[in-house]
Amino acid sequence: MALSDFYERSTIVHEHLRGKIGIVNKMPIESQDDLSIAYTPGVAGPCRKIAENGALARELTIKRNTVAVVTDGSAVLGLGNIGPLAALPVMEGKALLFKEFANIDAWPICLDTQNADEIIETVRRIAPVFGGINLEDISAPRCFEVENSLRPGPQEAPTSLERRHFLRRSLAIAPVLGVAGVGHGIYTSGNETRLPVVPLHFPHLPAELEGLKILQISDMHIGPYIQLSDLENLLERADTLAPDIILVTGDICDHKPDYLATLRLLESAPAPLGVYASLGNHEYIRGIGRIRGHFDKTTIPLLVDEGLSIPVGDATLFLGGADDPRFLRSEESYQRLRNSVKKAVADSAGEDFTLLMSHRSQALDTAVPLGGIDLILAGHTHGFQFGIAGRSVFEPFFPERYIWGHYAKEDTQLYTTAGVGHWLPFRFGCPPEAPLFTLHRA
Ligand SMILES: [Fe+2]
Repeated sequence: MALSDFYERSTIVHEHLRGKIGIVNKMPIESQDDLSIAYTPGVAGPCRKIAENGALARELTIKRNTVAVVTDGSAVLGLGNIGPLAALPVMEGKALLFKEFANIDAWPICLDTQNADEIIETVRRIAPVFGGINLEDISAPRCFEVENSLRPGPQEAPTSLERRHFLRRSLAIAPVLGVAGVGHGIYTSGNETRLPVVPLHFPHLPAELEGLKILQISDMHIGPYIQLSDLENLLERADTLAPDIILVTGDICDHKPDYLATLRLLESAPAPLGVYASLGNHEYIRGIGRIRGHFDKTTIPLLVDEGLSIPVGDATLFLGGADDPRFLRSEESYQRLRNSVKKAVADSAGEDFTLLMSHRSQALDTAVPLGGIDLILAGHTHGFQFGIAGRSVFEPFFPERYIWGHYAKEDTQLYTTAGVGHWLPFRFGCPPEAPLFTLHRA
């Protein structure tokens, strides 16, 4: 489906619903008595208690489970400075996600100012109502000024869930999630990217490849939630594992000015066999021509519909890269993926081990009848950002998506990583990861 189709469908849905969220009363008003308890005169009771002790507002009002999603509309998704009114559908969407994924009541607050001092002042003044403030889509450098000014002091209740520094924001959001009844340890998006070591066993693995260490980095989505400094941190920690080769399987960067810098960081990562990349759908979304130009300035081979042979001692590792079909719904798009997989490994005959980079895990279903592909490394799904025991909770509903983890069909194995980045700043039981695979003879 084309992007324009989504735009049209979304507009129809928004028009039909007149907005995506609303308020639901928690108690019925069916009698004069009900009214006297919910409103006057009974409501004077909790009011007096809060007047005596402000902390009781968290026990007696909506405050403890309510978040303000605040924006000035200056840096909205990929839309830029569209202003507060046009930002409202996006902020409604963020509020909807708070409710859907964490049962938190969030409300969009789109401010009619782009003056940092006025934003700070406004947020301070509305803060009494909310358990947390989620600053969203405020352009740099004002976002940093706003964020720093609103950072809670040691004696202050958390009021600032900042936008640009994801890790710090996650720490700030945790208390809100905690009071919302989401168990600690389930909310994981603030954790450092894990580097799980995943041993993979193959019956015919040549001796030269025994113990080979492959680091997969996928779906970083450098941008609002993951910064270059996070990638730097990841690569520093990965270096201690001494990967032999680093494979980057798409959706690298969503912030245009950072793209080349991201590739420069990746190419600087020490790996004796090199750093290689394949495409994801976000490379197309962000401008494939410009991105190919960035790759041309680096030493990172971008493998699209092609592969190459990498000598490892006396053995050879064939590495192929599938193109991304951009959308994978129609039969035509599946056919594009199938064709791409075939092209990517077309020259692999006679090689000792064939590894395919494919942003899409569905490549497994092409690889099996094709034969000769030992391992596929995929991403894209983010594990749907909800997991339990190392699998996506959505696995039973979409078994054909191979959403997260290790899969095997006949002689081909697949690992779909949950990825490093996020579409949205929520992950539950599905932490960001950059797996390190070690190859072994079965
Ligand atoms: Fe993707």
